[in-house]
Amino acid sequence: MHGFEWQDQRGVEGTGFVRALRSLLTSHLQDFQPHLERLVKDFLEIEFKDIHSNGNLKSITDSCEHDFHQSQLLCLLWRGTLYETQPLDTFRWDREMANALEFPQAVILAAEFIRITPGFMRPLVASIATNRHRAAKTLYQHLVPIVEQRLAVKDLQPHGVTPMDCMQWLIDTSPRKNPWTPARMVGEIMAVWFGSVHQLAMVVTCRRKALASYTFQDGSAISRGDWVCIPQQAMLQDGTRYKDAHVFDGFRFARANAQLQQRRPCAEVPDQQASRLTHASPDWPIWGLGNMSCPGRFYASLVIKLILIRILSDWECQMPHPEAPRTKTWRSSMVPRDDTIVMFRKKLP
Ligand code: HEM
Repeated sequence: MHGFEWQDQRGVEGTGFVRALRSLLTSHLQDFQPHLERLVKDFLEIEFKDIHSNGNLKSITDSCEHDFHQSQLLCLLWRGTLYETQPLDTFRWDREMANALEFPQAVILAAEFIRITPGFMRPLVASIATNRHRAAKTLYQHLVPIVEQRLAVKDLQPHGVTPMDCMQWLIDTSPRKNPWTPARMVGEIMAVWFGSVHQLAMVVTCRRKALASYTFQDGSAISRGDWVCIPQQAMLQDGTRYKDAHVFDGFRFARANAQLQQRRPCAEVPDQQASRLTHASPDWPIWGLGNMSCPGRFYASLVIKLILIRILSDWECQMPHPEAPRTKTWRSSMVPRDDTIVMFRKKLP
């Protein structure tokens, strides 16, 4: 993170990013929605433009130059929420953004090497694995002038209108006494960038490191320093939790909510009893647990739905190999496979 140290102990320097994402971003989602909708539509049109002519179903991997399309789209959307509100036609997939995309992947890759490297060699290995921190440096150099400019404008016009985006809300988390330097602010922005992009595109998981030895009710025990991970897929495919757990059923939760409402015809169903994609609970742990549960989940939920709505409205999709595995397992993580093929055909108007 270009020298920015994320403290091991949570909350030492505040958790302003939770307010910026969980409260401010969530409460402004309605304002962002038209912009995000336009970005999704334009992105799909541009990425698939060469498949209009013959109308054939064409593989998503054939039609695109880059092979990590999903994260490109997500990067673009998140960038749109972070600090850019220009439409896609003026948007260039420039070097900065390519590095911004590379940054979370470089961090993940380096982390895997560092994990098995003795302490004294870690700086060297990190430098080699990240190509001398190239992506982090470029992203940093791209962001610092933007932050500096915003601070300068605020100094000149303390009561002027400030931009309404996540970057501004993250800048505003700086304490009034001893305000952060622009470099420190950029560190915060890069950390959130990393969290948001890598979770969306690569890993979904929830882990905790034991600070003390502990014995669970069923007698199983963990020692200090052990890691505990939630087996998300096993839980989501558990037949004792979900009927026909292995069968895709797009209306599973909508039906359950409707039945709940029928049982209480006169009363509003309390939100916690209804099933919501954005709930964070031990039974629905996809967003993590407790205070650390994902503060970007309301934004992520909106983005997922906007992408699905646009695809289902405009495109016919088919998987040529529906039985082929779609994820691979890397230690405790399940990662989408990059050789999964989805065929797209534009629907006739
Ligand atoms: C489908 C998309 C996403 C999933 C499944 C997801 C899931 C998660 C999970 C499981 C955690 C760890 C929680 C824990 O350890 O208890 C987490 C943390 C976090 N997520 Fe997300 N996330 C997603 C998208 C996003 C987005 C779009 C943002 C930013 C807007 C974001 C920001 C964060 C941050 C900042 C944390 C750290 C929270 C903390 O330590 O307090 N996430 N996310």
